[in-house]
Amino acid sequence: MKYFLLVSLGVLLISGWSHAQDEGIGVGTVEEVTVDSDLGASREGSRTDAEAVLREEEAISPDGLSVAQMRELRERAQNFTFQTEVNRMMKLIINSLYRNKEIFLRELISNGSDALDKIRLMSLTDRNVLDVNPDLSIRIKADPEKRLLHIIDSGVGMTRNELVNNLGTIAKSGTADFLSKMQDAEKTDAQEMNDMIGQFGVGFYSAFLVADKVTVVSKHNNDSQHVWESDASAFSVAEDPRGDTLRRGTHITLHMKEEAADYLQPDTIRSLVKKYSQFINFPIYLWASRTETVEEPDLDDKADDADGDEDAQVEDATEEKSEPKKTEKTVWDWELMNDNKPIWTRKPTEVADEEYTQFYKSLTKDSSAPLARAHFVAEGEVTFRALLFVPRVQPADSFNRYGTKTDHIKLYVRRVFITDEFNDLMPNYLAFIQGIVDSDDLPLNVSRETLQQHKLIKIIKKKLVRKALDMLKKIPDDEYEHFWKEYSTNIKLGVMEDPSNRSRLAKLLRFHSSRSQDMTFLADYVARMKPSQSHIYYIAGSSRAEVEKSPFAERLVRAGYEVLYLTEAVDEYCLSSLPEYEGKKFQNIAKEIFDLEESEAQKERLEEQKKQFEPLTRWLGDKLGAWVTRATVSRRLARSPAALVATVFGWTGNMERLALSNAHQKADDAARKHHLSQKKMLEINPRHPVVLELLRRVQADPDDPQLLRAALTLHRSAALRSGYMLQEGQAVEFAESVEDMLQQALGLPPDARPDEDELDADAEADAEAEAEADAEAPADDHDEL
Ligand SMILES: *[C@@H]1O[C@H](CO)[C@@H](O)[C@H](O)[C@H]1NC(C)=O
Ligand SMILES: *[C@@H]1O[C@H](CO)[C@@H](O)[C@H](O)[C@H]1NC(C)=O
Ligand SMILES: *[C@@H]1O[C@H](CO)[C@@H](O)[C@H](O)[C@H]1NC(C)=O
Ligand SMILES: *[C@@H]1O[C@H](CO)[C@@H](O)[C@H](O)[C@H]1NC(C)=O
Ligand SMILES: *[C@@H]1O[C@H](CO)[C@@H](O)[C@H](O)[C@H]1NC(C)=O
Repeated sequence: MKYFLLVSLGVLLISGWSHAQDEGIGVGTVEEVTVDSDLGASREGSRTDAEAVLREEEAISPDGLSVAQMRELRERAQNFTFQTEVNRMMKLIINSLYRNKEIFLRELISNGSDALDKIRLMSLTDRNVLDVNPDLSIRIKADPEKRLLHIIDSGVGMTRNELVNNLGTIAKSGTADFLSKMQDAEKTDAQEMNDMIGQFGVGFYSAFLVADKVTVVSKHNNDSQHVWESDASAFSVAEDPRGDTLRRGTHITLHMKEEAADYLQPDTIRSLVKKYSQFINFPIYLWASRTETVEEPDLDDKADDADGDEDAQVEDATEEKSEPKKTEKTVWDWELMNDNKPIWTRKPTEVADEEYTQFYKSLTKDSSAPLARAHFVAEGEVTFRALLFVPRVQPADSFNRYGTKTDHIKLYVRRVFITDEFNDLMPNYLAFIQGIVDSDDLPLNVSRETLQQHKLIKIIKKKLVRKALDMLKKIPDDEYEHFWKEYSTNIKLGVMEDPSNRSRLAKLLRFHSSRSQDMTFLADYVARMKPSQSHIYYIAGSSRAEVEKSPFAERLVRAGYEVLYLTEAVDEYCLSSLPEYEGKKFQNIAKEIFDLEESEAQKERLEEQKKQFEPLTRWLGDKLGAWVTRATVSRRLARSPAALVATVFGWTGNMERLALSNAHQKADDAARKHHLSQKKMLEINPRHPVVLELLRRVQADPDDPQLLRAALTLHRSAALRSGYMLQEGQAVEFAESVEDMLQQALGLPPDARPDEDELDADAEADAEAEAEADAEAPADDHDEL
């Protein structure tokens, strides 16, 4: 490869990557000069150094081994079979991605980039690791004649053991995770697979989408150079008979399938790199030719130019005498294909939306554009740049993993990728945010562990959270709907978990309300409050339909108050942890203390009613004492006869149901039982005919058995209306009393019951049927053994 010649020539390499980055130029230039010539002709016309390049290339190309070396390689090779799991995975990848073959290049480049990240990170604490080769880049060379595609990185490389383990067994790679993920999705579609291979680091195997044979030559600082080779059915590993030609890194050669020949075309490669890999933070070069027309300087000048890096060495091939001399030449050179100036180091005003989107896609492997983004420089105690994104959807299983501390922020220090595993830069509830942070103020020459403890990290985190919340606040209304559908639970958990940012988070909350079918922000609710209203009213239940019919909201809504409808499981917990919003306290209208602003006249009227109904409320408190603390005249009921109200610290019906459905998670069973057995308050509606009739009957005969049954039934139905579940015996008892009323309503005698003789006859028939079944059964039983 010409690359290695260049390395040995030492052209520009000491300044290597940083120089290339600053100047935006290739690492060196080798030219072959000719007029109107194709590749073959240009070789003939090449100069001595180009010939040397060619020889070098012959020597290094894996199929360019001499016969003797070839034999040596085969003799030394140790054969391996792929682990069953790896075989399965390769099949899965190839079957689901055969229409998306092109991603192979993205995966191999991405793996090269990882390997470069690794060696660069090591070099921060141990400078010597770069000694053998300071260059950090990815180079691609296509050889259409031999149908070979070379992808070479000067990354960390792999030892013999790593070649065997990383490229063939499930050890150390993501294969096992990948497969366990695939199990529940046998029919994974191409898109999912596309997203997943990158995540699990198994993208290397996508090489077999386009190649029938893959050769990997790798040199790690710890080991001699080895050759791994495979045709996808088995693989072999051998020490390289040529010795160490790579210095450090990995050279992958794809022996392309006939139908994949298009991937050997420079234009195809360029467009794939642009599409998938333009944001790789290392230079990606393509060995390519271009035709140039230049005014030829005198041959005398040329000697002077020879030591200039960027000056072409050009041979006059035109033999034209006229002046100025014009020469057509084909220049072969490493062409830089990506703009590796990191996008976050640019001014936000100079980055197009489309570029952000492309960057986001390459960062996350998400196929749709982000929902929101923030790009900023933070200054003060610590200076850093950050680029944050909100993905359009969050993975369906996010909440199963909630709290396992995996955020998606990549940390860079002075443009050097350090880690994406701090998992400490975002709180749990914002773990969905993707992005990068890059600071010049953090030290580079310390271990990751030391860095994680660094005092500036805490400050960075604090600012990131604030900026992230700002970003969410700025999502425009039409997009917010979508955001809220996807992330409302995160924000509500945030309100519960992050007291220091509670007021910021509260601004993001949205709830259904009695006002209209649209959801409302708290700020809008507060703006609409009646002048006399001091509380924000809410009621929680399992659906809008349920809470709309809740007895608690009846009178408030009639009186023109707005009530928030909390219909998600987490809502009631969320608001219980939010003491107030803009100075307005929240009032759960299913709870005992209930401050409804009332006029003097209303208060007087209530006192009168209390006096009037006292015989009934006292009687009810007495007879229902096992379940209720007391009975009282309600101010909140309009149509329902009665409701059950939780004490201030008690659970509402909604809370009870949630606690029960979470029973398997809640270790504290005793506490749950305690809550469930808590008594509630019974409120009665003084305007309801049933209640008026009960009052009349209590006054007439407090020992009337009919009256007691009616009271019990009223209590149970009030419990149901109020969102509570009936406990053990109550449900059956309630059902029986409803059935009694049914009989009565249908004009049947109150003591009508099913015929006992009929029941006996049925039992006999059942026994017969069972005996018959037993007689036929033995064969089946036998099978089951
Ligand atoms: C390894 O496999 C190759 C091709 O399948 C075969 O030619 C070679 O003899 C095998 N080597 C050993 C050591 O078994
Ligand atoms: C990708 O490169 C890294 C080197 O950083 C290596 O450890 C890993 O095994 C490679 N993975 C594959 C599948 O080639
Ligand atoms: C390379 O050698 C160093 C020092 O002996 C060791 O810490 C490291 O784990 C080795 N790496 C590999 C991949 O063998
Ligand atoms: C890291 O580098 C800084 C200056 O570049 C130096 O002051 C510090 O002592 C170094 N720390 C370590 C652990 O080498
Ligand atoms: C919330 O923000 C404050 C400052 O705005 C910060 O100190 C705190 O760490 C943040 N909370 C979390 C959990 O990040």
